[in-house]
Amino acid sequence: MNVMIFLIKRPSFCAALLGLLLSTSTLAGAMEADEASIKRGEYLARVAGCNDCHTAAYPEEAGNIPKSQWLMGVIIGFQGPWGTSYPANLRLYVANMDEQQWLARARLPMLPPMPWFALRDMTDEDLLAIYHFVRSLGPAGEPMPAAGAPDQPVSTPYYEFVPKNLPSHAVTH
Ligand code: HEC
Repeated sequence: MNVMIFLIKRPSFCAALLGLLLSTSTLAGAMEADEASIKRGEYLARVAGCNDCHTAAYPEEAGNIPKSQWLMGVIIGFQGPWGTSYPANLRLYVANMDEQQWLARARLPMLPPMPWFALRDMTDEDLLAIYHFVRSLGPAGEPMPAAGAPDQPVSTPYYEFVPKNLPSHAVTH
């Protein structure tokens, strides 16, 4: 059968075809936007230092750690006047969170030495890029221990993060 006659006789089919074409191009656009956001997130994770604390051995290896091992948290705590904190496993952390939950949580205060104010001051677009990137890595690893109070005994390894030899006028927390 002549295709043109078939299409003219069936306007609803034409509308459906048009709808299909439009929705696939919108989908392709959305996927490209996601790709760009994921790339930006990877870049931010590299240069904003997230791996320095949240990826095991990243500083020691000067960043030469396969992406499959990134951001799974580090079991060496940071101990200071605030107690003992552990860089969270971000791969598990974002797995059960939607974008709005991430934007809200990422901007709240966290314990030292997490530079939470860097997240607070990021644009929504950059925060979401990090979120998209971490989610693209997929959930992996184990959850890190909850932070311990200052007087709580610690069974994991930890760094002592205490300023020493301060001049008397120095600002401390
Ligand atoms: C100097 C070390 C350090 C750096 C750099 C760092 N983090 Fe953290 N991060 C931590 C520690 C320690 C915690 C745990 C804080 C707490 O218990 O409140 C944490 C917690 C978090 C949490 C909260 C997890 C939770 O369970 O609530 C998020 C989200 C996070 N970091 C994201 C990032 C991102 C994104 C970057 C890069 C822009 C980054 N961190 C850079 C050390 C760091």
